[in-house]
Amino acid sequence: MIFEIMTLFPKMFDGVFEESIIKRACERGIISIHLENIRDYSDDPHKRVDDYPYGGDPGMLIKPEPLAKSIGAVKEKASHLSPKVIFLSPHGERLKHAVVDELAREQCLILLCGRYKGIDNRIRDRYVDREISIGDYILSGGEIAAMILIDAVSRLIPGVLGNDESAERDSFFNGLLSPPQYTRPEVFEGLRVPEVLISGHHKKIKEWQQQQAEEVTRRQRPDLWKEYQKLMKRKNII
Ligand SMILES: C[S@@+](CC[C@H](N)C(=O)[O-])C[C@H]1O[C@@H](n2cnc3c(N)ncnc32)[C@H](O)[C@@H]1O
Repeated sequence: MIFEIMTLFPKMFDGVFEESIIKRACERGIISIHLENIRDYSDDPHKRVDDYPYGGDPGMLIKPEPLAKSIGAVKEKASHLSPKVIFLSPHGERLKHAVVDELAREQCLILLCGRYKGIDNRIRDRYVDREISIGDYILSGGEIAAMILIDAVSRLIPGVLGNDESAERDSFFNGLLSPPQYTRPEVFEGLRVPEVLISGHHKKIKEWQQQQAEEVTRRQRPDLWKEYQKLMKRKNII
């Protein structure tokens, strides 16, 4: 998977992907992350990329020309990978596991990071394939949202996680939150690790984990629990 990030602030990404899982995935060539500075595509002698919005609203917008040029250039470079242009935007569909799972099946994602008051709407109309929001609040720019998307999507790409880190045991993968987990010591501040986990009885451990996952989801995420029950009904499991 290739992630092409279109941003006015490429330095924000310094260091973010240079640790741990994402770094290893880049080193193994499973993913690549490229940065493109939108400003480099400005024809303005001072490299300006923003202008006042029509209608007299306060603030500035990123102009359409440098955006169109930069997206065009990256699309051409990656044309053999059928790239999808994703605009990180509060107007978009919410980033959740199902969306992350779909994106992880693509070969190349062009991640467009807005700034200021946003972008000229004609870019949305003409160039954007999908708009994605990371939540109902306003960030100063799309960069942090792009980082979140890259991290979440990469985890679902085969080979990025080792067996020990497997995504299948994480929350959301099967529609439930993950069950509570414990490590040594067996007793901490008077609190014991549940007996079943140290019993060595694999079938019982699995049953306990499933029951705990259901319980924690029902209690902490009733919305998710409802969806899970619907799914199980459709599969005729309950
Ligand atoms: C200050 S925001 C612009 C907000 C816009 N005026 C509005 O009210 O919808 C600047 C940029 O940050 C990014 N952004 C802000 N909030 C976001 C969110 N919740 N999810 C994804 N991107 C976001 C978008 O790229 C946006 O164009």
